Amino acid sequence: MSDSQPASGPAPGPKPAILSKQMLIGGAWQPAVSGRTIVVKNPGRREPLGEVPRGEKVDIDRAVDAAAAAFPAWARVAARDRGRRLLAIGEALEARQEELARLIASETGNALRTQARGEARMVADAFRYFGGLAGELKGVTIPLGEGQLSYSRREPLGVVGAIVPWNAPAQLAALKIAPAVCAGNTIVLKAAEDAPLAVLMIAGICHDHLPPGVINVVTGYGEECGAPLASHPRVRKVSFTGSTAVGKAIMRAAAERVAPVPLELGGKSPSIVYPDADEDWVLDGIVASMRFTRQSQSCTAGSRLFLHADIYESFLDRLVTRTAALRIGDPLDETTDIGAIINERQFTKVCGYVADGLNRPEARLVTGGLPPKEGPLTRGYFAVPTIFADTSNDWRLAREEIFGPVLVAIPWRDEDEAIRMANDSHYGLAAYIWSRDIGRALRAAHAVEAGWVQVNQGGGQALGQSYGGIKESGIGREMSLEGMLDSFTETKSVNVNLAIPPLRAAR
Ligand code: NAI
Ligand code: MG
Repeated sequence: MSDSQPASGPAPGPKPAILSKQMLIGGAWQPAVSGRTIVVKNPGRREPLGEVPRGEKVDIDRAVDAAAAAFPAWARVAARDRGRRLLAIGEALEARQEELARLIASETGNALRTQARGEARMVADAFRYFGGLAGELKGVTIPLGEGQLSYSRREPLGVVGAIVPWNAPAQLAALKIAPAVCAGNTIVLKAAEDAPLAVLMIAGICHDHLPPGVINVVTGYGEECGAPLASHPRVRKVSFTGSTAVGKAIMRAAAERVAPVPLELGGKSPSIVYPDADEDWVLDGIVASMRFTRQSQSCTAGSRLFLHADIYESFLDRLVTRTAALRIGDPLDETTDIGAIINERQFTKVCGYVADGLNRPEARLVTGGLPPKEGPLTRGYFAVPTIFADTSNDWRLAREEIFGPVLVAIPWRDEDEAIRMANDSHYGLAAYIWSRDIGRALRAAHAVEAGWVQVNQGGGQALGQSYGGIKESGIGREMSLEGMLDSFTETKSVNVNLAIPPLRAAR
């Protein structure tokens, strides 16, 4: 049972009406050709929230046609003018931030105060950031001699496909749409079946500022709607964020037509705490890096806690107090710190990991456990922050991405051993190092196998900083100028002979 404070009831006010939304294809709102729909639920209340089209291959074909038709004209718009439109989208998104945040909280179960508002802010910032970078889509000249003009151009690819998950749906959609469109591509983005509403709201705002067909957003299930997008012959690139298993399938499909695929996949990120970091701010940092207030449904969750043996027990004791003070409850309630898990399947999966831990005699439960069977927390898919101690790094809970609030704590004495364990994972996304000795912390930061390392902080990604993983956590980098150039443009080299013989005078 939970040590956490009791959950609050649902937010006051009448039940919202079901939101019925359509897909944006070629500048028009459209249902699926089949007419079928998917019901979107509020996981904090297990109630229907909206419905969206259940798109399939034929809908993808229509969206790709629309994107392909819009491409030539969009690619010819001067970069600064494309940037100006993105800046206007950023302003429009900012004006509707609170509405977007409430929609994100309702469909994802992520708490409004601790998560959804920040995500909505990031969406507006992403459009502004990439809008401001439009002038940087420039090539170089190479000094090959006076007789040669050699220069390069950063050209858009054409129709880009993007597939996003549900855990930060609006942010991830913005981080694909903004750089792709800024660079002169057109895009077909498939939203996640569990959280398409905020993405459709963003699509609507983009629609007000972009020519028809530049951005197309389709909704549907992975196999039915995502797979045909990933394998579409006219889609020149597929940018995917989601599970490692699906990422591999997308890469295989792309291999058929040699299309590049930036993949942002799972993680099992280590947090290494040195003995000199036995302090309160580090406890707060561990709670943040574990993303407990996002139900740990984050690819960068620091879910393996390597604690130095000298501070192991006292640190864990105080971490339990910190964790138990977090309030679990309705995502829209302002007092809620931790919301709900996205859906029943993920909830069951997370509970399965907890049950596995409870069945292991060698693992010690220090806080949390299975969700309560009665009371207000049964209203939604509420998992309880859970910590297992005395686990081994080889154990399933220490190796697999749980995508729920289950932290494993592993003691260490020797620094090399800590780093060896940290690196003993098929993932390599994020890592966190905690020590006041900066030399030591940076040695560890450099030795750890991860695409992104934070020292003495556990915050989220920052715009402008290339972000992505190594090993099975993915390939490619996004979120930065370099990411936009590498992921969403192709370099063309042009050589001009400046030494052709002069025209002979006409006889
Ligand atoms: P998923 O990878 O199945 O879903 C992500 C997106 O891919 C969704 O839009 C989905 O419709 C689409 N998709 C699914 N199958 C596809 C296919 N065959 N072809 C093309 N698109 C497809 O993730 P899911 O099932 O929602 O979650 C399962 C696990 O994945 C989680 O427990 C977590 O471990 C991991 N995950 C990691 C994320 C990350 O940020 N790296 C995000 C979401 C899930
Ligand atoms: Mg799946």
